[in-house]
Amino acid sequence: MRIGILTGGGDCPGLNAVIRAVVRHSVKNYSSEVVGYLEGWRGPVENLVMPLTLRTTDSIINKGGTILRTSKCNPFKMERGPERIHESMEKNNLTALIAVGGDETCNIANRMHKEHNLNVVCVPKTIDNDLNATDFTFGFDTAVNVVAEAIDRLHTTAESHNRVLVCEVMGRYAGWIACWGGIAGGADFILVPERPVVINQVVEAIKKCHARGRDYSIVVVAEGARLDTDEPRPVSDNGSGDRAEIVSGVGERLAKLIGEKTGYETRATTLGHIQRGGSPTAFDRVLATRFGVHAVDLVHQNKFGRMVALRGNEVIDVPVEDAVDKLKTLDLELYKVAEVFFG
Ligand code: F6P
Repeated sequence: MRIGILTGGGDCPGLNAVIRAVVRHSVKNYSSEVVGYLEGWRGPVENLVMPLTLRTTDSIINKGGTILRTSKCNPFKMERGPERIHESMEKNNLTALIAVGGDETCNIANRMHKEHNLNVVCVPKTIDNDLNATDFTFGFDTAVNVVAEAIDRLHTTAESHNRVLVCEVMGRYAGWIACWGGIAGGADFILVPERPVVINQVVEAIKKCHARGRDYSIVVVAEGARLDTDEPRPVSDNGSGDRAEIVSGVGERLAKLIGEKTGYETRATTLGHIQRGGSPTAFDRVLATRFGVHAVDLVHQNKFGRMVALRGNEVIDVPVEDAVDKLKTLDLELYKVAEVFFG
């Protein structure tokens, strides 16, 4: 059997670990071959392929990004996109496709399976951890570790200069990275999209901190969090035909308001793509590897239209449609734990 694999959406630590696992398990245990499609869904539409062998996928478990590169290309917005995917699969003699990606990639895979009979299996990735039907996605643990380390470093300056330091983190419309990273870094306030707060709550917490003799504070804000003073979110076009809302910039706005309302020197740091870059943590390498192995097993059991998932500590599989119908937002029980340390 010959299997195709693509990585779609934003890059994420652990993608190469999945590719390596898919190739190793296929070649070693199923005598199958694997072909890599380049640049997300553009690969099968435009027939951009790269042979994957044990040699070319050796020593990549620790590498960030994806050797297949990625894009946010949507075949349903391209002329004869779905038909061209089938043509490319036939041309390369592929029986099935493994699509590694977040909600957009899985959504496309789901439609390709349902509407165009594509033999596809999904592997969930995103640093945001906002995909439904899986407890964790790989990439998240790496991002959280980056945030925790960054907050540790911010503490040094905050403490030395008596400053309030605001740290803006990624996560799109979910507060998972902010909440985990903020708890791990000992944040004095965390703002997430799931729990809107008015600016005076943040200000009061910071003042309380300072009143008990701690002359600095760390505030973590998720990029998707809204301030009560914010205008409606603008919309941008990223050039590929996909419309994506701009979700960053809240850190600077928040820092300005805190500075004005408290009189304390307040600065913002936006961590941005640093959270997605570099080597995956051991947890993400292992999770990505387990996902890759399970995805290959699904292909050989003809279980298509499925997505691998983590439930507790077990790798299972679910209908891919379960993952795409709505976002997995932050568990508010976890936010309650974070609140214990506010102010
Ligand atoms: O989904 C992952 C993510 O890093 C989000 O946290 C962030 O909002 C978005 O991607 C940024 O995407 P881009 O790199 O395309 O600007």
